[in-house]
Amino acid sequence: MKCRRCKEVAIIDLPSHNFAFCKECFLMFFEKQIQKGIEEFNLISEGDKVLVALSGGKDSLVLMLVLSKLGYDVTGFHIDLAIGQSSIKAREVCERFCEKHGLTLVVKEMAKEGLAIPSVKRALKRPICSVCGKIKRYYFNQTARELGFDSLATGHNLDDEIARLTSNTLRWDRAYLSDQGPFLPEAEGFRKKIKPLWRVTEYESAHYSFLMGIENHYAPCPYSSGASFSVLKSLWVDLELAMPGRKIDFYQGFLTRGRPAFQAEEKIKGKNLEPCETCGYPTSSGSICGVCRIRLAVEERVKEMEDEMSYDFMDSDPKDVVEASPE
Ligand code: AMP
Ligand code: FES
Ligand code: ZN
Repeated sequence: MKCRRCKEVAIIDLPSHNFAFCKECFLMFFEKQIQKGIEEFNLISEGDKVLVALSGGKDSLVLMLVLSKLGYDVTGFHIDLAIGQSSIKAREVCERFCEKHGLTLVVKEMAKEGLAIPSVKRALKRPICSVCGKIKRYYFNQTARELGFDSLATGHNLDDEIARLTSNTLRWDRAYLSDQGPFLPEAEGFRKKIKPLWRVTEYESAHYSFLMGIENHYAPCPYSSGASFSVLKSLWVDLELAMPGRKIDFYQGFLTRGRPAFQAEEKIKGKNLEPCETCGYPTSSGSICGVCRIRLAVEERVKEMEDEMSYDFMDSDPKDVVEASPE
């Protein structure tokens, strides 16, 4: 198998594009795909300051590296969720990556915000992954606003987008179908959100990461039961094998023909957003936003636990306390 561009020995075959490439030509092709994806929807305008959400996984690190190589003004942003060793490792990977490439990194610690994910899990009786997603989206936007960034970029790739689109379509979820895509425009109180990797697959991103020697954090979140949309992703593996190019065609078709139709319908309904009384974040769920409510629930739970502990102490026999003390 020979490289389509330079006729050297190819190291990667991409049937969906009908190309095979050697290392150098693949790296160039991959970066061009990102540039093309940015230009197609004008994701980044000249002079834009972009905050890149870095989880420590390969996709977001690849995104950061490619954007900086393409000359965009990027700053990394990591949310330290305080989930034991998993968060420590993820944060270290982001720190080492930014240091190695001379890039700036901003870190927000959820423990300092009163929102360490293990405490949130203890305080709420809802699935933690969706709550955690809500907290992350909140800090993506709040931090981009507070620090004067024009947009917030995430590392979602074509496989993530296709799986989400399939899930939304299977439920005919009109609100989500009107919102999904490589960009969400700036709106009052919200910074523009962009997904510049939307044209590249997980397979391509993994190869780029490997060939560029990017160290990343593999371990899945200990609270998650597996990769999100894993069933839908594996269905798409079979589909793409049988019909190369179907993924990108389906997604682009949705962006040009599906999404506008859903958007027209959803616009009529509109959403009433008011600033949160506590933090100023735009919210449609009453006077206090969802994240401030979560923080209050955590504070209440901590207080309950403190009260329980002091009752236990008062109930116990003073002798036990003396005997239990080390001296
Ligand atoms: P996930 O939902 O974990 O697949 O992550 C999707 C994207 O969200 C990643 O590519 C990152 O851009 C961003 N992201 C996820 N977790 C974090 C985090 N802890 N800190 C910053 N960005 C994150
Ligand atoms: Fe948020 Fe797992 S609960 S990353
Ligand atoms: Zn709030």
